[in-house]
Amino acid sequence: MFVRQMLVSDIDRVYEIACQSLDELYVREVFFFFINGWPTGQLVVVTDAGEVVGFLSGARLTSDKAAIPLFAVIPRHRRAGAGSRMMEEFRIRTMMDGMHYIQLEVRDSNASAVAFYKKMGFSAVEYLDSFYNDGGNAVRMICRVRGNA
Ligand code: ACO
Repeated sequence: MFVRQMLVSDIDRVYEIACQSLDELYVREVFFFFINGWPTGQLVVVTDAGEVVGFLSGARLTSDKAAIPLFAVIPRHRRAGAGSRMMEEFRIRTMMDGMHYIQLEVRDSNASAVAFYKKMGFSAVEYLDSFYNDGGNAVRMICRVRGNA
């Protein structure tokens, strides 16, 4: 399994994974938006057989802070380190672009994702009522990436 930058040719597969794995509704065009905004902040994880089984879409929030709007691994490849590998590569790319923080919002009921982010060094900093379209609440989490400043 390896991580590489997401290409426009990956979007159909990435969109399929997003529809399967994420509970909000997204349009396919959102991935073109992210690729145009920050090409090196878009990642996919690929099996040795060449199947794309997960993705991470990042965005530059400020000059010092990146965000992770969308992130998923297909169910049968979870708990095998794919998410960790994408997060590690994303940290490197965040630092290479001069940013020191990564911020994200996760549904408060999504215990597995909250556990994953805590394991990755994120801390909850804010509770956001009715953050999602269905009225669900979110937790905002932040991680400081390693670096000098
Ligand atoms: N329960 C408890 N801890 C977990 C779980 C879980 N279900 N999943 C991961 N962890 C923790 C564990 O400590 C794990 O290490 P271990 O397996 O050695 O115990 C560690 O995180 C690393 O797990 P990985 O295998 O690297 O993570 P994975 O490849 O499964 O990806 C992800 C994690 C992306 C959150 C995956 O569970 C997923 O796709 N979930 C559904 C979609 C989703 O919720 N995405 C995030 C939405 S929020 C957002 O996009 C900003």
